[in-house]
Amino acid sequence: MIEIVNVSSNWAIGKKGQLLLHLPPDMQYFRETTRGKTCIMGSTTLESFPHMAPLKDRKNIVLIDDEKKIRPESLAAAAADKAAGRTTELVYVPSLQAALDAVKDTPKDEVFVIGGASIYRLFLPYCDTCLVTHNDYPSEGADTFYPDLLSSGEWKLSYEGEEQAYEGVTYRFCRYERLQ
Ligand SMILES: NC(=O)c1ccc[n+]([C@@H]2O[C@H](COP(=O)([O-])OP(=O)(O)OC[C@H]3O[C@@H](n4cnc5c(N)ncnc54)[C@H](OP(=O)(O)O)[C@@H]3O)[C@@H](O)[C@H]2O)c1
Repeated sequence: MIEIVNVSSNWAIGKKGQLLLHLPPDMQYFRETTRGKTCIMGSTTLESFPHMAPLKDRKNIVLIDDEKKIRPESLAAAAADKAAGRTTELVYVPSLQAALDAVKDTPKDEVFVIGGASIYRLFLPYCDTCLVTHNDYPSEGADTFYPDLLSSGEWKLSYEGEEQAYEGVTYRFCRYERLQ
């Protein structure tokens, strides 16, 4: 499985339940990379999406501790997508094991772990690749962080894209692989 994340300085990823930074070229990269694939996420991340709608044309597997927290808005959005002929699916699972069971017949390189912080940490031991977009946006006020992959000694930076800029924020697309 593959984790995909956008990190600001200090590996910060979120603030008050929302992304720290909306970076359109990274959103486009995320859409192109995950379209047609399976995405695993936590309930907070689903709730952070516009109208709490699942990602279109992807299988959304959402971890939730308490099924009373399932949002009708999310179910309605998935149903509307289906009715419109899209391939959007929304599946709630109650545990790590249930999520792993749900993807057991899916090729591992077609399963993306898309956050948030608790889900990244939970699934990291099952992943061999992390697609990390590093940006230099300041992380003041951030309350959620991605693990610093290089400090663990378990990962190597296998690809570092060229530095690019968007409205004053510099960023690069990077890839980390688990050391064997
Ligand atoms: N920068 C990025 O690339 C990126 C990507 C994604 C998210 N984010 C940010 O990350 C933040 C959200 O992260 P988060 O850690 O607060 O929330 P999260 O991981 O999205 O969701 C946490 C929720 O998932 C459910 N959950 C977690 N572990 C579970 C388990 N083992 N079994 C069953 N359910 C489980 C629980 O849902 P219930 O309590 O509802 O039952 C829990 O409250 C937001 O700020 C978001 O914008 C950033």
